[in-house]
Amino acid sequence: MNFLFSKVKRWLLLFPGMLFVCGAQSVKKESISLIEGSPAVFAVEESYQIFIRVRKPSLVKIKVGRSVFCGHTNGVRPSGSKVHAFTVPGKLLDKAGQYEVICQELPERRPYMREVKRFPEKSFMYEFKALPAENIRIFHIADIHNRIPQATAAAAAAGKFDLLILNGDLVEHMASPNSLETALVLAGDMTGGKLPVICTRGNHELRGKFAENITQYMPNHQGKLYYQVKCGPLYAVILDGGEDKSDSHPAYGNTIDCTSFREEQLEYLRSSALREEFKAAQSKYKLVICHIPFPRYIGKSRADEEKRLFTVYGEWSKELKTFLKPHLIVSGHVHRKLIQQESDFPAPVLMGAALDKKTDIVSGSMITLAKGKIHVDFIDRGNFKSHSKKGTDAIRKEL
Ligand SMILES: [Fe+2]
Repeated sequence: MNFLFSKVKRWLLLFPGMLFVCGAQSVKKESISLIEGSPAVFAVEESYQIFIRVRKPSLVKIKVGRSVFCGHTNGVRPSGSKVHAFTVPGKLLDKAGQYEVICQELPERRPYMREVKRFPEKSFMYEFKALPAENIRIFHIADIHNRIPQATAAAAAAGKFDLLILNGDLVEHMASPNSLETALVLAGDMTGGKLPVICTRGNHELRGKFAENITQYMPNHQGKLYYQVKCGPLYAVILDGGEDKSDSHPAYGNTIDCTSFREEQLEYLRSSALREEFKAAQSKYKLVICHIPFPRYIGKSRADEEKRLFTVYGEWSKELKTFLKPHLIVSGHVHRKLIQQESDFPAPVLMGAALDKKTDIVSGSMITLAKGKIHVDFIDRGNFKSHSKKGTDAIRKEL
């Protein structure tokens, strides 16, 4: 009898606890969003490309004001991909100041969908802050090489900013599907989906099994990783130097054709349509953004097969210097922060990110556009350190 009583007593004591646990579990289930992390909002041409990562197969759409964007492929709304991308007009999102992500879980896709259980649509609202007309603060970082927590800490230490530039070599190589998502993870974590981001590819992102799939996971213009950005008072040309050695280098094992890719970009820079855009951008802050600080390599050739590589960088520079007259070239790649200016450069070259492999610390720069001038601060562990006087003189110039 005593045994039975003690058993009932134990169940009575356990019952409220079980209720609490069950309740907690259901609350936990409800609180798990279909969306993984925060959206990434990339500035491309005159639009924003919004990338959403989902935890389960889902239909996704974006609503800005009264306009709905479903992101269909020739009429078919995708549901099988983990990453969904949408292009929305820049002016529309700037004016709305917010966007809605609408997700509907879709575990099964059949030729006739009537017999499939339907899940309700779930809505998630995000604020969005367009670039201000003046005093624009741009946080720039590159060369993270898989160090996501360190990079996110560096962005948090930088304080408030209006635009994020992720300037390549975010991974060591494209080893897995997760590597492909690195830019989306960083952009979402650093901005919460509330700020515009400019993202370029670095040479390390050309390496590995999944490198050929990158355009499904990175902002691009009609599949190309070179394009313009027209965002408020900012005009930028995004270029992609590809790999940092000649295509015939044994490390690449015949997997690379960056020679054609760089020539294609030279044709793009020489196109009459782009020259018209350069003319129209004369009153803006004009940046060229490229992971590789290409003007540094003008006329420098270590081997015969690299001659064309360095010649094409000279031709890019000549086009930009003659027709765009940019104010600053923003790069990474060298793993240290400095500003360099030479007479044949189209503009001062900022190498605005550092990686210390001994301490595992990554750090970036703050670029401020204000009153017709550009100012750069190098940030180390949250401390703002103005660059050298020579650099300051080079960079502080009237537009
Ligand atoms: Fe690099």
